[in-house]
Amino acid sequence: MQIDPALQSYANNYKLLTNLVVPRPIAWVTSQSLDGVVNLAPFSFFNAVGADPLYIIISVGQRDNGESKDTARNILAGGEFVVNLVTEDLFSAMNISAADFPADQSELEAANLHTAPSVRVKPPRVAEAQASLECKLFSAQPLGANTLIIGEVVMFHVADHLLGPRMHINGFAPLGRLGSPSVYCRTTDRFDVARVTYPQWREGKK
Ligand SMILES: Cc1cc2nc3c(=O)[nH]c(=O)nc-3n(C[C@H](O)[C@H](O)[C@H](O)COP(=O)(O)O)c2cc1C
Repeated sequence: MQIDPALQSYANNYKLLTNLVVPRPIAWVTSQSLDGVVNLAPFSFFNAVGADPLYIIISVGQRDNGESKDTARNILAGGEFVVNLVTEDLFSAMNISAADFPADQSELEAANLHTAPSVRVKPPRVAEAQASLECKLFSAQPLGANTLIIGEVVMFHVADHLLGPRMHINGFAPLGRLGSPSVYCRTTDRFDVARVTYPQWREGKK
């Protein structure tokens, strides 16, 4: 079946896209308002998009009433944020942090989480997270009702137990987001297959 997005409602298009482009990683973003209130919210329009320098993107939509979300407002104003990664032990806290809290109330307190200081940026990271990426705003671009935020990663925080020799990450199993609004997956069912070279492929065909 072909579906022309131009003939679909926003809701149907959103459903199709977010149920097909899966699983998506979850950026659990700490940001800080100019008056110092720390904000935390999850974003699954998130990915790594550059390695030299290190770039990540998140895309922040608007609230139903058309207002800007606190995360976008804070990042545009302060130019800094932290992407914390969400493992299964943090699922409930992540879910609570997605509720529509007023701007002057910290989601961290509501979700029983603690902050740990960042090194290169003002917003703190989530102390309970096994990995966090300190980011500086590289650019922000309107994408329809969304704001595409490109951040440069300026500091990694990785729990000691995850880090093996030669920067190998072992035993890290962040959650993924599947269909919206509330289906998730674990990343514990893995397989590891070496990449095939062209000569190997050619030999295999004989
Ligand atoms: C797993 C998950 C992923 C989400 N991904 C996004 C997203 O990519 N973009 C977005 O605008 N909102 C997303 N949301 C909704 C925001 O987290 C929610 O609107 C939040 O209240 C925004 O908070 P803020 O106003 O403090 O920034 C997501 C929610 C959940 C639970």
